[in-house]
Amino acid sequence: MPDTGYASDDLQGLRAAEPQGPTLDSQEPRGQLASRLLAMPSDTNPKGDIFGGWIMSLMDMAGKMSATTVAGGRVVTVAVDRIVFRQPVNVGDVVCCYTDLVRTGRSSITLSIEVWAMRQGQGVRVKVTDAVFTFVAIDDDGRPRAFAQETPSC
Ligand SMILES: CC(C)(COP(=O)(O)OP(=O)(O)OC[C@H]1O[C@@H](n2cnc3c(N)ncnc32)[C@H](O)[C@@H]1OP(=O)(O)O)[C@@H](O)C(=O)NCCC(=O)NCCS
Repeated sequence: MPDTGYASDDLQGLRAAEPQGPTLDSQEPRGQLASRLLAMPSDTNPKGDIFGGWIMSLMDMAGKMSATTVAGGRVVTVAVDRIVFRQPVNVGDVVCCYTDLVRTGRSSITLSIEVWAMRQGQGVRVKVTDAVFTFVAIDDDGRPRAFAQETPSC
């Protein structure tokens, strides 16, 4: 079994019966670091602001990597809920995505995803965006696939 880094209760969907949503006032990122990237000028609009769509793309990719591990195979994004852009991201910020398993179903995986920015690559991290993403494990024909709920040893 692959090491997902998630506790057994998480994989059983027991951690929370329903999605809890992102933390609102946490000073620490929720979950595990899933990706880290530098915000570049090419990620901005003509006014020089980082695109929200670029951040959403990072979240989708980070979530997909985590959900793929949990599902043991291919997943697709089925829903994005409660996305909130709390702070701007600037060129030169290091942008980190953290994922935390909220629940698993028969074929679905729900993750809290938080984006934190380290301003100009150093100093204090600030939470800039958070959302709840749901992914569905699919088979080769693109149909929902039940994945094993057995817990890997962590
Ligand atoms: C994801 C997809 C395979 C689901 O197919 P479906 O026939 O609707 O599947 P089902 O109704 O059997 O639902 C499958 C699971 O998805 C969950 N689900 C479906 N719609 C959902 C939604 N809007 N929000 C949260 N979960 C949802 C169901 O609860 C179910 O979870 P479970 O198996 O853990 O109980 C299909 O909708 C699809 O291919 N969507 C496009 C995915 C895609 O292209 N993503 C990239 C976007 S650019």
